[in-house]
Amino acid sequence: MEIGELKKLFDDMTIEEKAGQLFQTVGAMYDDEVVISGPMQEMGITEKDIQLAGTVLGTMGAEKIKRIQKKYMEAHPHHIPLVFMLDIINGYKTVYPIPLAQGATFQPDLVKECAAMAAKEGAADGLHITFSPMVDLVRDARWGRVMESTGEDVYLNGLYARAMVEGYQGADISGGEKLGACVKHFAGYGGAEAGRDYNTVEVSERTFRDFYLPAYKEAVEAGSALVMTSFNTINGIPASVNKWLMRDILREEMGFDGVLISDFGAIGECVNHGAAEDRADATKKALEAGVDIDMMSGTYPENIPALLKDKSISVELIEECAWRIMKLKNDLGLFENPYKGADEIKAKACILSEAHRELAQKTAENSFVLLKNKDNILPLDKKKKIAMIGPYIDRRYMLGGWSFTGNPEDVITIKNAAEEKLADYEIVYAQGCPILSEDVKLEGFANYTEEKFSQEDCEKMKEEALRAAKEADVVVLAIGEHFLQSGEATSKGIIEIPKIQQELFEALSEVNSEIAVVLFNGRPLDIRILEERAKAILEVWMPGTMGGAAIVEVLRGAVSPAGKLPMSFRYCVSQVPVHYDEFPTGRRHHPGKDKDRYVSKYLDMPNKPLYSFGYGLTYTQFEISDLELSKTVMKPGESVTVSVKVKNTGDREGTETLQLYIHDIAGSVVRPVKQLKGFERVILNAGEEKEVCFTVDEKMLRFLRADNTFGSEPGKFEVFIGNSSEVEECKVFELLKG
Ligand code: BGC
Repeated sequence: MEIGELKKLFDDMTIEEKAGQLFQTVGAMYDDEVVISGPMQEMGITEKDIQLAGTVLGTMGAEKIKRIQKKYMEAHPHHIPLVFMLDIINGYKTVYPIPLAQGATFQPDLVKECAAMAAKEGAADGLHITFSPMVDLVRDARWGRVMESTGEDVYLNGLYARAMVEGYQGADISGGEKLGACVKHFAGYGGAEAGRDYNTVEVSERTFRDFYLPAYKEAVEAGSALVMTSFNTINGIPASVNKWLMRDILREEMGFDGVLISDFGAIGECVNHGAAEDRADATKKALEAGVDIDMMSGTYPENIPALLKDKSISVELIEECAWRIMKLKNDLGLFENPYKGADEIKAKACILSEAHRELAQKTAENSFVLLKNKDNILPLDKKKKIAMIGPYIDRRYMLGGWSFTGNPEDVITIKNAAEEKLADYEIVYAQGCPILSEDVKLEGFANYTEEKFSQEDCEKMKEEALRAAKEADVVVLAIGEHFLQSGEATSKGIIEIPKIQQELFEALSEVNSEIAVVLFNGRPLDIRILEERAKAILEVWMPGTMGGAAIVEVLRGAVSPAGKLPMSFRYCVSQVPVHYDEFPTGRRHHPGKDKDRYVSKYLDMPNKPLYSFGYGLTYTQFEISDLELSKTVMKPGESVTVSVKVKNTGDREGTETLQLYIHDIAGSVVRPVKQLKGFERVILNAGEEKEVCFTVDEKMLRFLRADNTFGSEPGKFEVFIGNSSEVEECKVFELLKG
């Protein structure tokens, strides 16, 4: 509706109705049989609160949502529609790879297409908002939520943040096939101390602004309809009551004027943090910080009436929040059509459609990272006898920890795909071991059960696998983390492949040295043992509905792997946090080059990760040469062209991702040893060569200077172009003073 009309409607609402908009509830509360009891009653939540609530979390299904909407609106004094929100993280019913895997594609456009596909399915099923993208920068693989991020790089995360927002929202969120995005978790959540979820974040304001904030900023600039607060403290104050963060940075500096929602229960938790005396105090502080919606702590409806009554908060404060929520409803087009895209017929047609499954498969194929391929053991040779072994060979649970909307029944397993696509190969299959041993406990998923195996079953399974491995020329071993071992509240101190699977690998490697590991995980693991003993390692993350089909295409060589790591695979857990864009020290270590004892290094392990950011092989080889600059001096306003030659020196077509890194040699504050500033994917036939150029301009050289302004500084810069962050060869140019 016209904004004037919306204003009129708003003015007509009582303060009680306006405050109601700030309360988020769950769909079940509108089912006829629901009674207000237990904690809800203790919190003082009444039927009236539920009737006046503004938004709903966690309900899906076109028919159900339409039913709830109708019933709710009929009873509401001003017939104001609800907004339905859900976590649609890596797909809805068609599940594509987890965000960390999407990061490995180095293809923001593909990621955007995936987000648009998720929006189409979710919107047809009645939803309006997704709690995505999560753009938190991650450097610590102990934190289970690294799987929800696109990785450790500030530039790459920004591109994906924008791509996802644009994909979900399109040009206009009122469209029936679009969802409003909610960028999360504002801010710095990925910096949880010691990698322990929900823990304090201690980061300097400089690092916070220079590394953590830019991706949220991209998402906000792309028009994200909502922002979600994070659970952590930042600068000593929990984000959900942090006025500096929400008012000064988010609203003032970034210009965000959309809806700010708390994370689940986060406002109430400010009492536990010790940042509020009680829930009333937490409510007051969150409102003062401008948090519009209280997700699930119930503290807004519980405390707002009394806070208003004793004038601890003003009517204007409530109106400010309620107005933003009403504007969101208007932007979503809900006043014109409260049922919006919800359409059972459309949902049936688009959910898991051929086109969606194809896109999910293509994205999975593009997200795999070939970490090792000694003697070109991959792709599989048709003439060889193959044993496909491991708990992931015929497993459907490869959707990732957030994909409760997806159905494992829809998943294509490796075995399903191999039986079809590798029908003319000689293959035997064996599970080898359960995914986890009995003593490993998984938390929080009451309805999820794993098949149980007796000791005897396990022994039999292993024997069968050993027999198969002995008789085979090549073993494809599909192993990795359980899908519930990464995601929220899954921090781990030991980030290895489950022990029972490591034992299987060790036993197999005793009888057959030709092992190609297909590795499943939601976080970079410590895989030294695989690096030592496996011939090939194909990282496939949690690949989604079409995971098995994508894996088989890559194993047989119909598709060549081309992904690049978006997050370093640490050598071992004691290295964390480890990231390629580290700062130089006064005593830099140059392995193999310096003899000095007093340099910044470990005695017992390398400084470098096992596999660095940007790394990834393919089935052919590339040679990168002739790095050239168009000039060595650049005046402000000018640009420098950097070029290299890249040649496919192997015997088959392949894709290489050339990465442009820059190092500001000296600044008013020290700058990272390297920072990604651009990349280009190049597809070349065997023997083909191409020149690839990047344009470097002054904007790319900006950072948060010592005087706290963003800008570049005159001086010298090293430029690198390579196929990973390990690239060493560089050229230098100088930026002159303006
Ligand atoms: C998570 C959020 C999520 C929310 C709603 C919280 O526990 O931290 O990322 O969006 O739940 O499901």
